[in-house]
Amino acid sequence: MKHLQTIQYMGSKQSLLPYIEACLNHYLAAYPLDTPPSTLFDAFAGSGRVSYHFRDRYTVISNDKLAFSKTILSAYLCTPFDTAQQHRCRQWIDILNNLPSTYFSQTDQWFTNTYGWPWNDGKSEDANGVKKVWLHKNSRKIDIIRHQIQVWRDTEEISESDEKVLLLALILGINKVSNVVGHQNGYLKRWCAGAQRDLILELPSIEPRPSSPHIQYVGDIFDILKQVEADIAYFDPPYGTNNKNLSVATRYSSFYHLWNTLVTNTRPTVFGKASKPISTKGYTEPLERNKRQVVIPKFIRLIEEVRSPIVAFSYSNKSLLTAKDFEEVYRLAGCDMNTFRLYITTHETNNQTKLASKGGNWIDRANPNAPLTEYLFIARKDPERYQNTNRTTRPNQSIDIESIPVVDQWLQKDEDYSLPHQTWEYSENEILQIQSV
Ligand SMILES: C[S@@+](CC[C@H](N)C(=O)[O-])C[C@H]1O[C@@H](n2cnc3c(N)ncnc32)[C@H](O)[C@@H]1O
Repeated sequence: MKHLQTIQYMGSKQSLLPYIEACLNHYLAAYPLDTPPSTLFDAFAGSGRVSYHFRDRYTVISNDKLAFSKTILSAYLCTPFDTAQQHRCRQWIDILNNLPSTYFSQTDQWFTNTYGWPWNDGKSEDANGVKKVWLHKNSRKIDIIRHQIQVWRDTEEISESDEKVLLLALILGINKVSNVVGHQNGYLKRWCAGAQRDLILELPSIEPRPSSPHIQYVGDIFDILKQVEADIAYFDPPYGTNNKNLSVATRYSSFYHLWNTLVTNTRPTVFGKASKPISTKGYTEPLERNKRQVVIPKFIRLIEEVRSPIVAFSYSNKSLLTAKDFEEVYRLAGCDMNTFRLYITTHETNNQTKLASKGGNWIDRANPNAPLTEYLFIARKDPERYQNTNRTTRPNQSIDIESIPVVDQWLQKDEDYSLPHQTWEYSENEILQIQSV
């Protein structure tokens, strides 16, 4: 399989995967562990592409706050998908595709009432300007199919593993008929060509896997950190932006709410023109806040608490923190700064930056002329600090704001933290040359 069949996702690392692997190889050759690493913690797994990429090389432990990430990865990485299961799932999918439309009356019709709309001369919004995601022909099928999967699962007619495959098939099918441009923060005003197609489920292309060592979590990273031990921790959190006109980064729970509602099969109260769950209203996850004083202590805590001797972090030059900030973050988190390295590539690949728009316009970035540069920071954790439970950060009552005196002092200084040229920086060409030797 060339690419993982999954959802479009802002900040997805799809095109950076070979590069990230090359950087890790390079780093591990320079700073080998006593025994070759065998486990990787993908702490912000999102669409699942990074976990999937490393599936044959490491035991991958994945986590994301959003439940659909676990559904996608469980289907791809933990399904035996032997001939018997393939046969079974093909039959289930066949039944789901052919359920009579009269079944609709047996469902609560929630997806249709909330997100469905008739053709309406090509206009996909109602009289109040509330935009809709699916034509009735498809929203009705979604209600029927989701209801039937739930019934099968509740009566134990299908296993949990079969359920994951069917939900993945539903996500991939819906992905093709939704009236959106990649995310679900808002929808198109007129029915696009994709939305006019018929929803059809297909058997996902899953590799057979007799047994799987991989593990998926769903939860806030600061709860999950304590449960995971891995040789390499890979952090790909929301990036934030260095555009002073914006106050928040991509709010993932808001941008991908439909996938979450679909896999959890919940019925959230919704609000606004995009009918998003009320829980997303005005909510910004702390790591998505565009405030250095919020994010920096959290990043320090991430590195400090993670039980991994090697910590890798993806970021970019158009995001909230600078490369110099990261040097300080790693240092304060107790890493061995002699092992701190920054890998740099200028591939224009990060949709988190490319897709961001406000009021229909592309966001005017703070440094619009600078090419997008993707960073990968890697360092070893100081073994003494790693064993030691003394933390620099002090979680206080509020999960949002943590105070670290030395960081407070640092942030009060208005220094220029532009990218320095230091020995710890590797350009893309250097890495490619090193790899080809
Ligand atoms: C840049 S995206 C990761 C993209 C992913 N590497 C990929 O290739 O698809 C950041 C992810 O962090 C997740 N996230 C944000 N805050 C989180 C938190 N506190 N705990 C766990 N996950 C979180 C978001 O749901 C989002 O999926």
